Amino acid sequence: MRDQADSLRNLMRQTQEVRRTRPPSGEAARVITICSGKGGVGKTSITLSLAYAMMQRGARVLVLDADLGMANVEVLLGTSSAYNLLHVIRGMKSLRDVVVEGPRGLRWIPGGSGVAELADLTADQLHSLVASFGELDATTDVLLIDTGAGISRTVTSFIQAADEAIVICTPEPTSITDAYGVIKTVSAGERPIPLSLLVNRAVNDREAMDVGRGVQRAARRFLNRDVSVLGYLPEDPLVARAVRAQQPFFLMQPSARVSRSVDQVAAKLIHQEQEGARPKGLGAFIKRFASFFE
Ligand SMILES: Nc1ncnc2c1ncn2[C@@H]1O[C@H](COP(=O)(O)OP(=O)(O)OP(=O)(O)O)[C@@H](O)[C@H]1O
Ligand SMILES: [Mg+2]
Repeated sequence: MRDQADSLRNLMRQTQEVRRTRPPSGEAARVITICSGKGGVGKTSITLSLAYAMMQRGARVLVLDADLGMANVEVLLGTSSAYNLLHVIRGMKSLRDVVVEGPRGLRWIPGGSGVAELADLTADQLHSLVASFGELDATTDVLLIDTGAGISRTVTSFIQAADEAIVICTPEPTSITDAYGVIKTVSAGERPIPLSLLVNRAVNDREAMDVGRGVQRAARRFLNRDVSVLGYLPEDPLVARAVRAQQPFFLMQPSARVSRSVDQVAAKLIHQEQEGARPKGLGAFIKRFASFFE
């Protein structure tokens, strides 16, 4: 009797575990890298507001702060974390333990110095990291990765390992040429990653459209590469105010023009059918990332 009860209990536990580690829709999380060439163009502000806008539309979002030393997400959310990815890699904490629950339930992972360590994993570390990221597939539809400025090897590897990337630029000429530089670097990589451009801080629609089309045309002409334009966000003093208040601008004033524009981007992203392979999930993403450093 006792044996039977035990095995029944075991079976139930196993079923629950399967349920927990498999996404309800049967699909794996989609990984999107947010990057730019030039720094300070709005990556972190946009990543967080986009995360909230997507959450409001029903997506289960997870954010990875992959900015090497600056802990951008932490500052802009006004929350702090005692642990980061490094503790997971070193086996001191489980990934679940370092996922921080931010305001209104936004889940995010502090990368900290663990981001650098990702480039130098032992086989055991990689194996356990792939498994623990894979577990998060069950509760995640989208992983947004906020990267640091510039196109370091780590940043290009995040882009190459992800399912798609959003390149952010402003109408400033240096920002445009740097964004083009990112597109060029990514295009030279092995995997054909779908890229889209998001023009931030545009004074008006006309300017934004000119910038978007200009980059799109240059990529097509010189790189033989299609880049879609994901959208435009206006210049809005709310963004700087929100940074000072350590609050995502989308939460601070959802009706502001810049917030509504972010919501449009969120809607587009959710409904967008990306070309190419279907997402393979978070475990596969980490594995691919690590393979660039073998
Ligand atoms: N749409 C906008 N309107 C007005 N100001 C903006 C807008 N977007 C960004 N900014 C300004 O740019 C600053 C930098 O934004 P943010 O920190 O999000 O950029 P970042 O790309 O993450 O920077 P870094 O490369 O250093 O990580 C903000 O503090 C804000 O002052
Ligand atoms: Mg940032």
